[in-house]
Amino acid sequence: MSTDIGEEIISLKKDRDALLLVHNYQDSKLHELGDFSGDSFELAHKAKYTDKEMIVFAGAEFMAETAVILNPDKKVLIPSSTAKCPMAHMLSPKVMKRYQTQYPDATIAVYVNTTAEIKAMADICITSGNAIEIISKLDNDQILIGPDRNLASYIQQQLPEKMIIPFPEIGHCYVHQKFIPSDIKKLRNKYPEAEIIAHPEVASSVQTLADKICSTSGMLKEVGRSTSEKFIIMTEIGLIDRLRSNFPTKTFIPARKDAICIQQKKITIYNLYLSLLHERYQVKVPATIAKNARLSLERMLEFSEA
Ligand code: 13P
Ligand code: SF4
Repeated sequence: MSTDIGEEIISLKKDRDALLLVHNYQDSKLHELGDFSGDSFELAHKAKYTDKEMIVFAGAEFMAETAVILNPDKKVLIPSSTAKCPMAHMLSPKVMKRYQTQYPDATIAVYVNTTAEIKAMADICITSGNAIEIISKLDNDQILIGPDRNLASYIQQQLPEKMIIPFPEIGHCYVHQKFIPSDIKKLRNKYPEAEIIAHPEVASSVQTLADKICSTSGMLKEVGRSTSEKFIIMTEIGLIDRLRSNFPTKTFIPARKDAICIQQKKITIYNLYLSLLHERYQVKVPATIAKNARLSLERMLEFSEA
């Protein structure tokens, strides 16, 4: 980053009274300029309670939409209009209605990686950081979970007393799908002393090979409290930079170097600068959708704050 553009961004942030929220997968330069870095739950929380005039999201579009829904009086910008998580578009309203009809008694918990329209049709939202806590607190034992089938399978494994129904068939993250059991077994043999940490979006056949499963911020916390010195990490490669900068004396081995989220990486220092300069691209959610989606998101906040 040229110092000039960094300084311009700092000055524009001040002029616009903007809060810059940065997801854990983003490049380190963005973290340096950001006001807060975190996982999707922590960023949603920050977006709801900020008193700044504007929120700029260095993350996926569904995260920025969540900010608009939770804090409708703020102007929310995303520097790239194509930073859309493919998994968030794998669950359509039509499919959602089909499952609602098929399981009329089930509670519908949707991953925060969904469109605003899907959140508006759900009972509650969950993230990888709070899913177990929230689902365990629900009175209903029959729960539809979508769109990530791997997250659903992790929840089922942790909460065998609940009946988890994953939907739809296609729900997955293409980045986390790259981790396969044979690679992880090889790494385990090569580094027997290392702790293996995985995101719940990895396939269930890979989840069983991990020592810990957590959200992106959960991984940072786990490394902080663990006595291990070496870690094999199964999530998007950007988190490795965060881990190395937060824990310079520990060793991190990415389980795959090509685990790259192309959509999140569309956010750059340069388009962040342009975003602040031209106040673009404003993220909007139609008021009727936002009203119902807010109920699902606020329920999530209540359940995870309780
Ligand atoms: P986290 O909530 O763990 O940051 O995950 C968001 C995400 O999109 C993971 O791929
Ligand atoms: Fe979506 Fe996967 Fe990228 Fe996360 S890593 S934003 S789930 S595509």
